Amino acid sequence: MLAQLTQQPPDALLALIKLYSADERADKIDLGVGVYRTGQGDTPVFTSIKKAEQILVDHQDSKAYLGPEGDMGFVEALKPIIFGAGFSKLDQIDGMQTPGGTGGVRLAAALAKAAGVTKIWMGTPSWPNHAQIMKDLGVEVGTFNHASADGTADMAGLREAIAAAAPTDAILLHGCCHNPTGIDYTLSDWEEIARLLAGKGMLPILDLAYQGLGDGLEEDAAGVRLVLEAVPEALIAYSCDKNFGLYRDRVGAIYMMGEGVDCLPCIASNGAALARANWSMPPDHGAAAVRTILEDAALTAEWKDELESMRTRINQVRARLAEAGVAGSVDLRPLAGQRGLFAILPLSKEQIAALRSDHAIYMAGSGRINIAGLTMGNIDKFIKAVATVSA
Ligand code: LMR
Repeated sequence: MLAQLTQQPPDALLALIKLYSADERADKIDLGVGVYRTGQGDTPVFTSIKKAEQILVDHQDSKAYLGPEGDMGFVEALKPIIFGAGFSKLDQIDGMQTPGGTGGVRLAAALAKAAGVTKIWMGTPSWPNHAQIMKDLGVEVGTFNHASADGTADMAGLREAIAAAAPTDAILLHGCCHNPTGIDYTLSDWEEIARLLAGKGMLPILDLAYQGLGDGLEEDAAGVRLVLEAVPEALIAYSCDKNFGLYRDRVGAIYMMGEGVDCLPCIASNGAALARANWSMPPDHGAAAVRTILEDAALTAEWKDELESMRTRINQVRARLAEAGVAGSVDLRPLAGQRGLFAILPLSKEQIAALRSDHAIYMAGSGRINIAGLTMGNIDKFIKAVATVSA
């Protein structure tokens, strides 16, 4: 029976990791998968994480099972970071740990499906795995255009989608640092989105995978908080993979907001049952390290400093690209106003292939670049190469 399976292509984004490693050119540039890199091109373990891991080595006394919800101390410790001090609905929110933000998105979509949602709307382009998850779950996807030609969010497209949706549909929105475009909603866009979603009654699924990499921890969660204050029910998929640099440790969470305190145990029980059937229990180590940081004021301050230096560097690279103006046919100026690790450059498949073959520059086939792959040492080469292939 297994012989009847048809060959599947490798995930295009993850395949880039191997292609880049195999390239022997010394001046190669990796703008592929979304990992932060320092000005020296490294992705080091955070100092705060190293310290937390040392504390775990010294004091963790068991690795016995915790259960499908994982480390609830981690889930609780993250709440003030995500929801903030003034948030009025904390008693309507329950959470559980998931394997990475992907686990959070998967569980959110599966919960929505279990609750009767048959269609989930999302902007295009989106993180390619969003559509793959929906397809795997057998949930219909409705799409709307996310990015306008001027490099801002296409609010008209979103308004039309919400107007066309059924109240029993769900909508998946990126909380900040939109992947792959870097184009976020403004605060006044979010106010309107919150109003529209509350009016329609559809279920928001908010994917917050890059909190702190845009404008700051508070600023990056502001849109999500506005939506949560306005609607009765929502699901939030959260990732610590980027803002704690824990990528391969797979550290994420789902938060479930229900209408009224009474329904929470029922929602959470469904989350736990789905988790048990999917992955049984999430991996512990990374989440335990995050909890250790967030339960310690000095380590939390150190982590926030490390996150701030990442954000500052990303935004410096954005400013430097925008300063270059127009490279060939590519206008780099809108990148200054966009946020997070990613931007989409309007390059053709042939131009992207030429960047790889002639200039050893690796980026996703969509034209997405990882801003953090650029350093003061390689950015001029990059701008020149973009100008050459797009002239
Ligand atoms: C990315 O978009 O590059 C990251 O979120 C990594 C991934 O899992 O795709």
